[in-house]
Amino acid sequence: MDAAFRNSPLSHRRIATHPIASAMGAEVSDVDLARLDDEQFEEIRRALYHHGLLSFRGQRLDHGDQEALTVRFGPHGVDAFTDGVVGHPDIQPVVREPGPELPIFFGANWHTDSPFLPQPPAISMLRSVEVPPYGGDTLFTSTRLAYERLSPGMRELLSGLRGLYTRAHLTRAKEQWDDDPSRRFDLSPVERDLTDATSHPLVRTHPETGTRSLYVDVNYTIGIEGLHRAEAAPILDYLVRHTTQPAFTCRVRWEPDMVVMWDNRLVLHQAFDDFAGYRREMYRSTVLGEVPR
Ligand code: SIN
Repeated sequence: MDAAFRNSPLSHRRIATHPIASAMGAEVSDVDLARLDDEQFEEIRRALYHHGLLSFRGQRLDHGDQEALTVRFGPHGVDAFTDGVVGHPDIQPVVREPGPELPIFFGANWHTDSPFLPQPPAISMLRSVEVPPYGGDTLFTSTRLAYERLSPGMRELLSGLRGLYTRAHLTRAKEQWDDDPSRRFDLSPVERDLTDATSHPLVRTHPETGTRSLYVDVNYTIGIEGLHRAEAAPILDYLVRHTTQPAFTCRVRWEPDMVVMWDNRLVLHQAFDDFAGYRREMYRSTVLGEVPR
């Protein structure tokens, strides 16, 4: 059995970490992300694998700086949703203009990034440029704590099961909306499609630390390999409710010039469209992950 996780700071020489909540996440001070030496970078990497999420204030990075920081962790991940910004294909704009409510708000609902890919992103990084005066926070939850707090019987039941992940229903809903803006985005299970799904273990093991965590979300997990949909649905519903309980979460309140990085092997996240009338400008990059095991 994995040792019980505590979100207490590790001991570091060159950075200072300050836990955000008892479940997960830490703010890092005393670093300039554009000028990290190797020792600081190694401490950040270790802290990220421990806390699941790190947040840094006062970082005036440009797209090139963000790319350089990202590739210190590994090659850029595949972006399944945008072509990047001009001249920087691996920097994805996450920009919400002050317009009407959207049928699909990028990042809404609890999710892990692109689990439908054969090698989903290991790490995601979001940099804020402009933030609304209120709202627009991002919520995170620890899939590691969620796994740890399951009963031995439930862990046994899940071991060896593979989840099915797709974005087909999101693509279809977006196409419908593009054709007819009066149609609302609807994630009804009837529309969900098992046909083009990718499968990964429902319990995955972190390649660097051996930590086990649940790999299940609201947006993309649509079934369990070898189970009828009706059999899989209550298990997935339970796992999502369990994973997203407030005790396992932490919340990031944005200000301009922040960088937040999270490990998709350890957390889910969710954004909110709750800042009508204001602009939010962020840039995201990802690090290519392994085939989940
Ligand atoms: C995302 O899901 O990567 C975006 C999160 C956010 O905009 O806060």
